[in-house]
Amino acid sequence: MSQTSAYCIETRQLTRTFKNIAAVQDLNLQMPYQSVYGFLGPNGAGKTTTIRMLLGLIKPDQGDVRIFGEPMNRKNISIFRKIGALVESPSLYPNLTGEENLEVTRRMLDLPKANIAHVLRLVKLQDASQRVVKGYSTGMKQRLGLALAMLSDPELLILDEPTNGLDPAGIHEIRDLILELPKTAGVNVFLSSHLLSEVELMATHIGIIHQGHFRFQGTLSELNAHYAPQLILQVAARDEVFQILNSNGYEVQKNNGSIQVSIQSPEQAESINRLIIDHGYQIQQSFIKQPTLEDIFMTLTK
Ligand SMILES: Nc1ncnc2c1ncn2[C@@H]1O[C@H](COP(=O)(O)OP(=O)(O)OP(=O)(O)O)[C@@H](O)[C@H]1O
Ligand SMILES: [Mg+2]
Repeated sequence: MSQTSAYCIETRQLTRTFKNIAAVQDLNLQMPYQSVYGFLGPNGAGKTTTIRMLLGLIKPDQGDVRIFGEPMNRKNISIFRKIGALVESPSLYPNLTGEENLEVTRRMLDLPKANIAHVLRLVKLQDASQRVVKGYSTGMKQRLGLALAMLSDPELLILDEPTNGLDPAGIHEIRDLILELPKTAGVNVFLSSHLLSEVELMATHIGIIHQGHFRFQGTLSELNAHYAPQLILQVAARDEVFQILNSNGYEVQKNNGSIQVSIQSPEQAESINRLIIDHGYQIQQSFIKQPTLEDIFMTLTK
């Protein structure tokens, strides 16, 4: 692997405007090697525009993209050989079989024949490989798209919303597959999504984009440290309980008639509940609230 830079993907001040819409603005994206990078943001945040620029499909107005330390350039064929991509839904030939679809791309890229069997196995489509694609389910098509992206045995896989349109079982399958890739194929994975809950199961690094700007970039544990789950407590003696928790060193807030405590683990919630009961106070209700992407956005954009 050509490791001339600290980052597998690095953008500097990447900017793209459509008419008067600033789709992507001053994005300094840094994806370390050997990571799974989750690129998160709501609809219209600028994810696909960024990915198109990463892949050289559209030109930035300003800024640049480096992949494996080299400037992204349509003419730099050696970079393209190292990248596999799936942007939105895969373009497939519906009247050809799964295997034939792969064969078309294999010939175009002049790749070894053995790669087809390898990727079919990887995405678990061996049994369906002789069926025409128009009879495939959405999940199977998505898996075939992933197989196409993996066909050249890339060092970097760029996936735009790979689980979009899939049912929970399909999402699970793709997720397992993506989790296996870095281990089995040694590939660096960059994927976009609008669901934090989904990405946090796969990603080691997270970038959150909103209205074309980064709101957060770092490791998943850094994100979790910033946005800890909250234990929500309904108690009659609100002021007294607040005092107890506060003097025991908890990060506690009064909120809408309840008390909110930042916690690091479910075990911590148990000890908080015990602490309150040991002081002779009753708890009417106690539950853990995981911050949603919206909560995090609210905090980040406040
Ligand atoms: N070709 C285009 N022409 C005009 N505006 C565009 C074009 N492509 C994107 N935009 C605008 O740029 C902004 C970012 O769009 P983009 O597709 O990058 O968002 P996204 O994060 O991928 O959203 P989604 O989750 O819906 O896929 C949006 O406001 C969109 O309307
Ligand atoms: Mg998009």
